[in-house]
Amino acid sequence: MKDFIKNQEKKLKEIIIECGYSIDNVNIVPSVKPELGQFQFNGVMELAKKNKTNPRIIADAIVEKMNADEDYSNINVAGPGFINITFSDKALSDYMEYLRTHISEKVKTDVNKKIIIDYGGPNVAKTLHVGHLRSANIGEALKRLSKELNCEVISDIHLGDWGRPMGLIMLELKKKHPNWVYFDENYEGEYPSECPISNSDLEKMYPIASNKAKEDEEYLEEARNITTKLQQKQKGYYELWKQIIKISTSEIKQIYDKLNVSFDLWNGESDADEYVPKVIDYLKEKKLAYESEGALVMDVSLPDDTLVVPPLLLVKSNGAISYEMTDLATLWERVNNYSPDEIWYVVDKRQDLHFEQVFRAAYKSGIVPQNIKLEFIGFGTMNGKDGKPFKTRDGGVMTLSNLIDAVKKATLNKLNSNITGKERDEISDVLAVGALKYADLLPNRSTDYIFDEEKFCDFNGKTGIYILYSIVRIKSLLAKAKEQNITIGPIEHLTCDSDRNIAIKILEIFSVLDKSFRIKSLNDISEYLYQLINVFNNFYTSNRILTETDELKRQSWLGLAELVYNIGFKLINILGIEEPRKM
Ligand code: ARG
Repeated sequence: MKDFIKNQEKKLKEIIIECGYSIDNVNIVPSVKPELGQFQFNGVMELAKKNKTNPRIIADAIVEKMNADEDYSNINVAGPGFINITFSDKALSDYMEYLRTHISEKVKTDVNKKIIIDYGGPNVAKTLHVGHLRSANIGEALKRLSKELNCEVISDIHLGDWGRPMGLIMLELKKKHPNWVYFDENYEGEYPSECPISNSDLEKMYPIASNKAKEDEEYLEEARNITTKLQQKQKGYYELWKQIIKISTSEIKQIYDKLNVSFDLWNGESDADEYVPKVIDYLKEKKLAYESEGALVMDVSLPDDTLVVPPLLLVKSNGAISYEMTDLATLWERVNNYSPDEIWYVVDKRQDLHFEQVFRAAYKSGIVPQNIKLEFIGFGTMNGKDGKPFKTRDGGVMTLSNLIDAVKKATLNKLNSNITGKERDEISDVLAVGALKYADLLPNRSTDYIFDEEKFCDFNGKTGIYILYSIVRIKSLLAKAKEQNITIGPIEHLTCDSDRNIAIKILEIFSVLDKSFRIKSLNDISEYLYQLINVFNNFYTSNRILTETDELKRQSWLGLAELVYNIGFKLINILGIEEPRKM
């Protein structure tokens, strides 16, 4: 899709060169003083400095040439040399019509990379809780955004399925059911084809086991040993583990489905296991891995570190594989099997040291070549009103499904009372997820924010509910037009500030998507979506669109409404938010 502003920047660059100056980058940005112009160019002062001339002289020369061009309706100079730019209605409406007919295409920019995104990261047999929400939402949206901008993306859930939690669960099962064949080391028969325990029982078991391990050193030691046995793929434990994985992942999948989150790869830490011996040999050969207090470690500190970066733990003293090792081995696999340009990790920012160590080890050893970019995309936590990580009323961990249900309750009274029964239930599901996801993506990803379901569902705030309601309203306007055989588009006219403002806002979309991609945060898109919807709603409330008697005007207006609808739809889709049928 052609970007109007980019083309204008090219054109302005040519004008500047024609005026006899050289310049590399020309940026046209939204105006901070809309009364002076729609956009502005602030590069004249720098040009003047470079050429040792008065900025006014340069600005006047540029403005003279711009004024001769019919793309602009008003070009003026403010202050020492800020050039204010107002585009002609013709240039704007021509471009709006172009977008209206091309909006189904991908935005595509010149980024064209192969990216692996590691997000989700749930742990098998542990209930998905609030801490898992942001990785899923941010990761999914970054995946969709990257695809929109023409990248090839491979999403990997990277299940936590190979560490101590698995050992703890199995120990607890062993204590409860010592007679299960899985725990009989001499058993040689067939193993059951079904998991002997339900997922909800499993989930209840983990916190119990984890608490016991905290209080009882012997119990912990036993869990460690079972973890090691699992990692050595000892038959009984390994078979039980496979069953646990099966029932747990089907549950995990259901919740991610609800959140509109999906993955290309359902790999886990365990899938890296076959690469572990190779990585160990490789690191030993390079003389990077060494033994320390019975464990295998690798130095990753650098001479100018201001904070201590401890050695990376590869293999624990009891032979178990560390979390760091699984990540290093996973990198080995990803580099060799997929040759990506970049690998992104969307993980709680409190894991930054872990990733710093792993990345250093990966580059230092050459497991990852320098030209592959590894990026840690850390995020802040969702807190309760007390400013601490969100808990249930009785202080327990809030599960993700309970969280969604709490928001769902708050959405129920936002629905029209003539929507009833099953439909009401389905739509409030869509709204709850939309409200939750929008609230989650709106703050800058690295800041913490507070869970407040009433605020997330406010019709009059910067919320998913407000945005979805507005989008549904535009859709029903378009449906009414169709019902009455009123033609929608082409966009040929802009007639007043309220429709012009929509067009100007639309011009920003490319730079917003581009910035979000660069900084890997969805807050700009969320904010922009709100602004776009707002300018449209201002227009909507100040004009009677369907009953407008000037036919050309009405067609243009409806065309513009259709364009806003399609852009809104595209953006909520990037954010991973679904459009409700009605509200
Ligand atoms: N399962 C991990 C956790 O719950 C997150 C995994 C993040 N991804 C990774 N490659 N380490 O903390």
